[in-house]
Amino acid sequence: MKIFLDTANIEAIKKYLELGIVDGITTNPSLLLKEKSRDPIDLMRNIVKLVDGPVSLEIVAIDFEEIIEESLKLANYGDNVVVKIPMSSVGLKAINFLTKKNIKTNVTLIFSANQALLAAKAGATYVSPFIGRLDDIGHDGLTLISDIVQIFTNYDITTQVLVASIRHPIHVIESAKLGADVVTLPPEILQKMIYHTLTDKGLDVFLADWGKLKKENPNLQF
Ligand code: E4P
Repeated sequence: MKIFLDTANIEAIKKYLELGIVDGITTNPSLLLKEKSRDPIDLMRNIVKLVDGPVSLEIVAIDFEEIIEESLKLANYGDNVVVKIPMSSVGLKAINFLTKKNIKTNVTLIFSANQALLAAKAGATYVSPFIGRLDDIGHDGLTLISDIVQIFTNYDITTQVLVASIRHPIHVIESAKLGADVVTLPPEILQKMIYHTLTDKGLDVFLADWGKLKKENPNLQF
């Protein structure tokens, strides 16, 4: 399963890229807004340059012609750009158009298996079901992932299931068990995945015991 970072924060992106565990990035206007001191266009361009893998950049137009215009501009930022398009009729039309031009798309704000199926039929590279927002209103986001994975498997659909709106590490484990292609995570969730209290406690003991060995043999070294 691929891991994307769901952030527009350059420092976080650099930090986790260095660990070799991040395959791509997803952004949206709300994430750009969080980076208040940075020009959003510069920020998007910088992220595209910094990252080897796919970077999703979201359009904000509603009208078809404008969606295409924005999409073509964003696609020009780099070969690794994936144009993020909110689910709608006009969005599907745009995905169909962009797919024929070999431009990759990520269909965002997916809340039903029907929406995912239609986005895939239109040619989407990724569909982004938002599981946390479904959980927030008392639905079960992971059931949606299970449905989409099953449908895509039944028909050999190559559109990738990109699990979005992840709220905690258990969402990641369950998405992986269900066979999702990608999860996109806020940096805090990735950090929680790295950490385990028993790892820290175990390390303290190993270091203390090495200290004891060193006391017995002051010349001890690797
Ligand atoms: C990713 O593509 C989405 O924009 C993001 O995961 C949404 O997450 P949120 O529901 O926490 O805003």
